[in-house]
Amino acid sequence: SLPALSQFCESVNGYCDSENMLASSKILIKGGTVVNADHQEVADVYVEDGIIVAVRPNIKVPDGVRVLDATGRLVMPGGIDPHTHLAMEFMGTETIDNFFSGQAAALAGGTTMHIDFVIPVNGSLSKGYEAYVEKAKLSCMDYGFHMAITKWDDIVPKEMETMVEKGINSFKFFMAYKGSLMISDELLLEGLKKCKSLGALAMVHAENGDAVFEGQKRMIQLGITGPEGHALSRPPVLEAEATARAIRLAAFVNAPLYVVHVMSSDAMEEIARAQKSGQNVIGEPVVSGLVLDDSVLWNPDFITAAKFVMSPPIRAAGHGKALQAALSTGILKLVGTDHCTFNSKQKSLGIDDFRKIPNGVNGIEERMHLVWDTMVESGQISATDYVRVTSTECAKLFNIYPRKGAIRVGSDADIIIFNPNSTFHISAHSHHSRSDTNVYEGRSGKGKVEVTISGGRIVWENEELNVVPGSGNYVSMPPFNYLYHGIDKADQNYLASLKAPVNRIKQSL
Ligand code: URP
Ligand code: ZN
Ligand code: ZN
Ligand code: ZN
Repeated sequence: SLPALSQFCESVNGYCDSENMLASSKILIKGGTVVNADHQEVADVYVEDGIIVAVRPNIKVPDGVRVLDATGRLVMPGGIDPHTHLAMEFMGTETIDNFFSGQAAALAGGTTMHIDFVIPVNGSLSKGYEAYVEKAKLSCMDYGFHMAITKWDDIVPKEMETMVEKGINSFKFFMAYKGSLMISDELLLEGLKKCKSLGALAMVHAENGDAVFEGQKRMIQLGITGPEGHALSRPPVLEAEATARAIRLAAFVNAPLYVVHVMSSDAMEEIARAQKSGQNVIGEPVVSGLVLDDSVLWNPDFITAAKFVMSPPIRAAGHGKALQAALSTGILKLVGTDHCTFNSKQKSLGIDDFRKIPNGVNGIEERMHLVWDTMVESGQISATDYVRVTSTECAKLFNIYPRKGAIRVGSDADIIIFNPNSTFHISAHSHHSRSDTNVYEGRSGKGKVEVTISGGRIVWENEELNVVPGSGNYVSMPPFNYLYHGIDKADQNYLASLKAPVNRIKQSL
C-alpha cells in the first residue's frame, strides 16, 4: 500500500495539487518548433489519452481541449535518463531519493523516463527484481530496469533469461567495488557470452577494483583520509585499464558493449580506438563528468567536498572538455546522470575515512538544463543533436523507439516545452530531490523547461509539480537492439577466418 499523498507533500517541495489531477486528457501544443533527433519544423502537436495523435501546422482546436501556447518555444521529446539509482541500498545506507521523489525531480527538469539498475539480493536476480518492483510502486513517471550481475553459478544465466522475458534487455557488470559488487574477468566473459546469446546489452562500470583497493590502502598509509583521497586513490589510468580490458573481452566474444559513466579522456580514447576498428562500443558520459572538475574535492569543509564523491571520480579540469568534444563528434553517444543521492548525514559516514563516504551525486533534475547550456548554448551541438543525446539514442539503444524518444504520431505523449531564451537556476533550496545538497549549487544558465507532459498529463507547469505516486508505468524493453543487426554475419566471418589457416595446414600435411 502507498503512503498517503500528504506525507509526500511534507517531505518534498511543491507537489500535489490533487484537484488538478484529473486534468484534460486532450492537449494541443500550438505554434512551437517541434524538434526531433533528425529534423525540426514549426508544427502543432495534438495529444489524446497519453498518445501523440497529430503533428502538423495549424491543427484546429477541438472542444474540451487544453491549449498550450508554445510560440517561440521548442517542443521536444521528454528526456530519458539511461542511468539512475533510486532507493538503492549501497555502502551501508540507502539513496535518499526513492522512485517518487527522484522521478518528481526528473519531471521538474524535463526528464520523463529513466532506466534504473536493479541490484540482485544475495546474488539472486529474481529476488532483486521483486524488491525493485516493490520500490517502483511509488512511480509517477515511466521507467525501465537494467540489472546488475554480481555473482555466477548455474542459476544466474537461467535467471537472466527470465529477466529478458520480463523486459530487461541490459545487464551491468561492476569491475570495481571489491568485496561487494565487483566481478572477475572470468565472470565478465561468461556474462558477455550470455548477454550476446540473449540479445541483451552488456554494460560495465570500468575501474580496476583490485588496483583501487591498493590505491586506497596507499592513501590511508599516507594519512590522507579526506575526500581528496577518493580521487587520488583511483586515477584515470585505472579507469582506462578496465575500459580497455572490457572492450577487448567484448571483442574476443564479438558482443556489443556499453561503458557507463565515462569520466576520463583516457577511457574515452579507448572507446574511440575500438570504434575506429569497427567495434560496437557505446560510451555514456554523465553530467557530473561533463561539467564539474576535481578541485571541489579539496575543499577543507568535509560536507562540501564529500557531496562530490562518486566513482569513477570527477576528474581534473580538461577531462570534462574532452568528454564534451567526444559527445559532439559522436564518440560518446548519450548522456546519463548516475543520479545516486545521499544527504549530508549519509555522506558523513565517511568523515574519518573517504572509503566510507557513500558514492554518488545528483543530476536527474539538472541533466536537461546543463546539457543544453553546456553543449547547445556553447555551440558544440545543435538542438536536434540535443534531442538525440538526451532522449532518442537512449530509446533506440534500449529498443523502445519510436514509442519513446520522438514527437511523432503514435508515440507516447512524453513532451517538454523548452524556452531557449529563459534561464534556469539550481539550488538545494528549490530542487525537488530530497537531498539537502546539490553538486550544481548556485549554477544558472540559458534555457528552461517550462512545461513537462508525461503520459499525456501536464505534470510540470508554472514551476509547479502535479504528480501522484503510483501513476508511472513500467516499460518493458525487448532484446536485440540495432547493435545486434548483422552480428551473426560477423560471427560467421570470424569462424571462417579461424578455419582458413587450419584447413591450409591440414592440406599441406
Ligand atoms: O558513485 C557512483 N557512481 N555510485 C553509483 C553506483 C555506480 O557505480 O554506478
Ligand atoms: Zn503538496
Ligand atoms: Zn557504476
Ligand atoms: Zn551508477
